Amino acid sequence: MVKYFDHAASSWPKPPEVIEAMAKCVSEYAANPGRGGHQMAVQASRVLFQTRVQLAKLFGVRNANDIVYASNTTEALNLAIKGYVKPGMHVISTGVEHNSVRRPLEYMVRKHGAEVTYLKPDRKGYITAQAVKEAVKANTGLVAVSHSSNLLGTIQPLEEIAQVCRDKGLKLLVDAAQTAGILPIRAETMGIHMLAFPGHKGLLGPQGTGGLYLHPDVELEPLLHGGTGSQSEAIDQPDVRPDRYESGTQNTPGIAGLGEGVKFILRTGVEAIHAKEFQLTQQLMEGLMGIGGVEVLGPDLGEDKTGIVSFRIPGVDASEVAFILDQTFEIAVRSGYHCTPLAHETAGTAETGAVRASVGWYTTESEVQDLIAAVTEIKKHL
Ligand code: ALA
Repeated sequence: MVKYFDHAASSWPKPPEVIEAMAKCVSEYAANPGRGGHQMAVQASRVLFQTRVQLAKLFGVRNANDIVYASNTTEALNLAIKGYVKPGMHVISTGVEHNSVRRPLEYMVRKHGAEVTYLKPDRKGYITAQAVKEAVKANTGLVAVSHSSNLLGTIQPLEEIAQVCRDKGLKLLVDAAQTAGILPIRAETMGIHMLAFPGHKGLLGPQGTGGLYLHPDVELEPLLHGGTGSQSEAIDQPDVRPDRYESGTQNTPGIAGLGEGVKFILRTGVEAIHAKEFQLTQQLMEGLMGIGGVEVLGPDLGEDKTGIVSFRIPGVDASEVAFILDQTFEIAVRSGYHCTPLAHETAGTAETGAVRASVGWYTTESEVQDLIAAVTEIKKHL
């Protein structure tokens, strides 16, 4: 049986009720939500709404229609960045961003004359609210930060950054790819204007799901234009949310599964999930650090972090370690650059890459022991 340590890329396995909800949708009512008044279409629409309500509850959002579905965090981030950044606008971001933040920002720089400052984090991946404050210019309009680095697990001081945004009248976009369903997020009380989240990681839903919370005062240029099932006679995209940002048939089976994933999170509690994942990361870090000659990246032992432990064995290719873990020990990790060359520059691993092991709700202590034992063996022989 494979030991799965790639939850930061996509969580697995999923709770049985997620799978059952998807199967039920496909076999019983997967008509087109919002298009047609027949009973199956109405049931499909209802499921989209019910999942939205669960997401609103989880993220501390008053109006569920301020949450729009996207097929993944990348799409949500593209909607936020391309929809909000205007020509000449200055954006403050960080040196640990995923390419899903960096590339749309760079696109806006090249095509629309936007400006970006990437704040330099310390080696563990932290930026400070003070650094955000000092980077603000007259044309700054947006601060775009990942809540937690997908390489280092570092958790940014979001509430302090939000306070700077409040004081300076800036909008705050948070990439919650690694924290949705894992850390407490109350978007409206925390001062987050846009929150991009995946459905298939911490929320335990299927791939192809995710979304963007959008503060009622923030209007975006839609990323897609097309059929919404509403105001069909109008040439322009409707103003009403969520339709304005949800063109085309939605992923009803996926969203049905996502709804069950979110219910699972609400029942279990994000605090309990984070506490468990934190304890597993500490066990793993301690074990890897005890091997000797294995370098663990990111926050120190005992420092709060998400369920990510990246490491390298100096002189040994990270992809070779991952390959041996997979082929010899049936342990699934991710190696290479993790779509975040910026974070690798920060960690000093831009030349070598790293091996990333990431835990989830279903990871066990015994699997962590197996991973430590496997790396010990690899270290002996390489
Ligand atoms: N962004 C995901 C990861 O870090 C896919 O692996």
